[in-house]
Parts: sequence; C-alpha cells; structure tokens
Amino acid sequence: MVSNEQIDEIIEKTDIVDLVSEYVNLEKAGSSYRGLCPFHNEKTPSFMVSPSKKIAKCMGCGGGGSPISFLMQIKNISFIEAVSELAAKAGIKIDGIQKKKNGPDYSKYYSIMDTAAKFFRHSLLNTKSGEKALEYLHKRGIDDKQIEAFEIGFAPNLNQALYNVLKESGFNEIDMSELGLIKSGNNGFYDLFKNRIMFPIKDEQGHVVAFSGRIYVKDDSQPKYVNSPETIIFKKGNTLFHLSDAISNIRKTHRVVLCEGQIDVISATKSGIDEAICSMGTALTANQVKIISKYAKEVVLVYDGDNAGQKAMVKAIKLIEAESDLKLRLVSLPSKMDPDEFVSANGPEAFLDYFNKNQLDSTDFMLKYATQDKNFSDMSEVEAAKLIIFDYLKLKNSQVITERVLEKLSDIMVISKASLSIDFSKYCNTNQVPNFAEISTNETLINNNIPSNEFLSSAARCELRLINYGKISKDIAMKIEDSSLLKKPFIEYLERLNQKLWSKLVDEYYITNDKFDENIFLTYLKHDLYNCYVANIESLEKNFDKYNPYNEKDMNECIKSLVSNAPKKEIDEIDKSFYNASYENKKELLNAKIEKLKELNKNKKESRK
Ligand code: CTP
Ligand code: MN
Repeated sequence: MVSNEQIDEIIEKTDIVDLVSEYVNLEKAGSSYRGLCPFHNEKTPSFMVSPSKKIAKCMGCGGGGSPISFLMQIKNISFIEAVSELAAKAGIKIDGIQKKKNGPDYSKYYSIMDTAAKFFRHSLLNTKSGEKALEYLHKRGIDDKQIEAFEIGFAPNLNQALYNVLKESGFNEIDMSELGLIKSGNNGFYDLFKNRIMFPIKDEQGHVVAFSGRIYVKDDSQPKYVNSPETIIFKKGNTLFHLSDAISNIRKTHRVVLCEGQIDVISATKSGIDEAICSMGTALTANQVKIISKYAKEVVLVYDGDNAGQKAMVKAIKLIEAESDLKLRLVSLPSKMDPDEFVSANGPEAFLDYFNKNQLDSTDFMLKYATQDKNFSDMSEVEAAKLIIFDYLKLKNSQVITERVLEKLSDIMVISKASLSIDFSKYCNTNQVPNFAEISTNETLINNNIPSNEFLSSAARCELRLINYGKISKDIAMKIEDSSLLKKPFIEYLERLNQKLWSKLVDEYYITNDKFDENIFLTYLKHDLYNCYVANIESLEKNFDKYNPYNEKDMNECIKSLVSNAPKKEIDEIDKSFYNASYENKKELLNAKIEKLKELNKNKKESRK
C-alpha cells in the first residue's frame, strides 16, 4: 500500500506545470498559470494551475485538483494507476503496489504499422502512382487538411511495395505477416493491400493497429473495403475509428457521435462535429459501448438512412441501454442518405443544422421507426408495428414509458389505447420467458425468475458452485471448460443468466485480469447480473470450506450432475413450448420428449453404477 507520506512526497516532487502542459496550453498569470479547461467547453480560460499549491483546477466546472486527481480524470485511470505513474516519473519507488501491469511489449508491432502508415502517406502525396487516388479523394470533397488530419494514404499497385520498405527498415517477415500486411505465396512474399486508399485505424492510445483500404475506381470484382484481419494488436470489436484523435473533443462536449463508416466520420468533422467516431461497418459491440462510456455521457447515433442503417440503430439502442447509462439520441437522415451523402448534397452547415434539430430519444425513434410510411388500414402492418413497439416496451419495462408510447401509438394507428393495452399484456404473457441471451434490463422479471437461495434446485446449485470454482482462479475456470466429462461446451449447460455470468468471467474478466478480485469483477456486471450475483453466489459461498475451497472431486461431481441433468432441462423447454405449438409440431415435440426421457433414464442408470 501507499502511505500518506509517500503520496505527499509524490505530489511534492511532481512538476504540476509540466504535467498539465502535456494536455493544456498554459499561459503565465502572476505566480500561477492559466489555460482552457480540458474538462469542459469554454472560450475564456478558467483552468488554473498553481505550482506553489500543487493544484490544477477549473474555476468553472471544478474539474481537476491535485496532480493525482488531475491525472486520474484526464486519462480516466484509477488512483493506483495515477499514483504509480507519477511515482515512476518522480523516481520514487513504492513497494507493495505493482507497477501498471507489464503487458507484453508490442512496440515492434506499433513501429511496423507506423512505418507502413508513413509509407502509404508518402505514396499518396508524393508519387505519380498515387495521383488518381488523391484526385478521387478531392473529388469526394476530402481536402488536404483532412487527408493530413486522418493520415490517409495509398497502397501502390505493386506486389512488394510495402514489403520492400518494411524489409529495408529491418523488420522481419513473421511480424509483417502477423500484422496482416503481407502473405507468403509461390513467388515469395506479397503485399495484402494493393491499389487502395488507406485509412489507418488506431487504438485508444493512438497507435496505428490496422488499416481499412478502399478502392477508388469502380470495380465490382473486388470488395469496396478491405480491412486488416484481427491481429495481436487489433481486435475489431474493441476498436473505434477516430476515437483516439477525438478524445480531447469528447472530453469537452462529453458526447460521442457514432456513425457507420470512416467516410461518414470525415464528413461529420467537416461540420465541426469533431467527436465523430465509427465502428467500421460491423454491429456495435458491448465492449465498444463500454469504451465510449469511459469518455462520454451522451452518444448520438447517425447511421445510414437506409433500412439496414435504421435497423442497426434499433439493435444499437438495445445494446447501449442494456450496457451503459449513456444518454442516447438518434438522428435519421432523409432519403436513405448516409452522413457523407448528406454533406455532399447539402453542405456541412446544412448537415450540422439537420443534426442539431433532428435528435430523437430512443422512445420517439422507435415510434417513428415502427410507424412511419405505414398504412394502418392494412392489419398486417398494424401487427408488424405493434410487435416492434411491444418488444421494445417489454425490454424497457417502465409503466410510464409504456403509458406514453401506447398513447402515441393509439393516435398514430387510430386504434383505442385500451385495445393496445390489452394486446400488450397478452404479448407479455405469451412471451414470458425473457430472452436473456439477447439483452435485458428487466429487473423485475429477473427477480421473479430467480428463486431465493433456499429454494434453488440442485441443478442450479451445481451451476453456481461451478461458477464459484471458476472464481478461485483462471486455471480452474479453464479446467472446468476443458473437462472431459462435458459432452458439449460448458456454457450450454448453464441457465441464461449464469451463461452471461460465466461469459463475463471467462471471456471478459480473465482476459485482462489474472487473479480474481471480487470488487473488480463486480464492476464488469450491469445491474441485472449484479443482482443475480449478489443474491445467489455470495451466499452460496458460505457452503464452501473456508480453508480448502478448491475440491476437485466436488467440482467434478457438479459437472457430472449438470451433464446428466441436461436432458431434463431440455424436457422443461419442450413442455414450455408445447402449449402454443401447432398440431404437427406437437407430434414432433412429443417424439423429442420421449428421446430426452430415454436419455435421462440412461444417465440415471449410469450414475448409479
Ligand atoms: N465496410 C467494410 N467492408 C465492406 C463494406 C464496408 O469493412 N465491404 C465498412 C467500412 O468501414 C465502411 C463501413 O463499413 O466505412 C460502412 O460501409 P458503407 O456504408 O458501405 O460505406 P460508406 O461509408 O458509405 O463508404 P463510401 O461512402 O466510401 O462508399
Ligand atoms: Mn457513403
């Protein structure tokens, strides 16, 4: 642990003006310094730095404080991380706290990608072969300033252009291939990106980790964009285009503007929307939402105006609302345009104006999405719109919102609100099993569905016990997953909430943490899972032998019991769907049930042996 004396020493030895100057342009003002606050948007400087008091604080928004709080806020890091960083800078050794985890050293990969980016830029700006590509960018309204800002480049139409450059710079083929830049063929190595405009993609710290390459002459035989494959330094689902360069603007507006493609981001910045980022075509991931909420309080979605784009917005709403507390606004562009097309057609000012005036909250967006351009004298269109809205309302699980939305829906469809309410309750009753595999924030359903501890079935106890074993260490979690007793992946034996919990533990928590720490793990859980965890697992822990919690025999018994119980769970599922099934399906379900019963009997016999 760090003592108070050590903290005082760290603060004392930190040059606060030096520290703040890395992020803020400071001017001398008497014995202090002054600059524009990095924590909110302002035109006159109210961020004060006092070297004698060792304080850097905004008189306007109150952001900042001691060098430690300043660093914590500006880099979004923990107290311990800030302390270790400042201690290292000041040359103070602290026992007991580990230095920030010394992850693997990726510096050689970063310098390869950096060299590649520089080469591509040179090819675009200074070579004959890049002229056509440059012309294309200009024609699309991307000027030299933006080419510079986004570090856009060009991969020449040669087999070994990049390869030769990297080779001359002393890099080896294995590393280049691992980064997805070259591939080996019959005639040696060849470049993977050829004759394409190159957009570098950076990680949160600003290292180039991937490229997205676009064709610039019409060619239907080739994909429009080719992206780097996932590599040691590039995980698509954890990466957001333009994030690292937008962070300082995001900090000021506390807002992220999320588009679909990189050209849309570039166009948005033409309108002064400098907090624009994108997830590069693929569906938004939970990790990306988490990353966004580290920096912003609000997210505005401006996906493409076409059907695919609007549908993707609906999915994004569900994800963002389930995974974060971000305030959410949505902009639908007219005539199926994407942001870039809107800017080209109407100019950047018109885009900004439209963007500012057409932000809907998620409820109004869903209403519009479900009902606009529909003909409600056609009953099938009524049913389709109802389903979209009911599904959303059920997920929201708020009486107030339901009330409001059904009222509006009743006006739009010219159907009485009473009828809509009845249909909605019916919808909720027939679709009782909540789809947790999708996303849900439905706390009451969860609380109703999880019996309190004394009433847990033995199968449920086994599941929770195994999750408890997984918490002891990463190795044990892997041991469970790799157990030879399993007949299908471990996670498939679990109930849906426990599946989510296990996946948080193994696919998220243990990816970045080697040791289990309850408090840190809890920060990975949103309220539904948090409740489930606290309600069940913690109290189950009491059953664990305090002195010897790891009991391999018990663990294997739990796995065996889950495996032999699996058919029983499947039978329950069959029983649930039986009631609503058609006559034909009922026959099939009965047959399936008989098979499962046989399997169950067999398991029972085996376990008696
Ligand atoms: N994308 C991709 N591979 C493709 C097509 C698209 O990776 N074959 C990704 C790119 O990151 C692209 C984003 O999906 O920016 C959005 O695709 P799309 O809407 O088709 O492209 P635009 O952004 O409209 O690009 P442009 O205006 O250059 O056509
Ligand atoms: Mn486009």
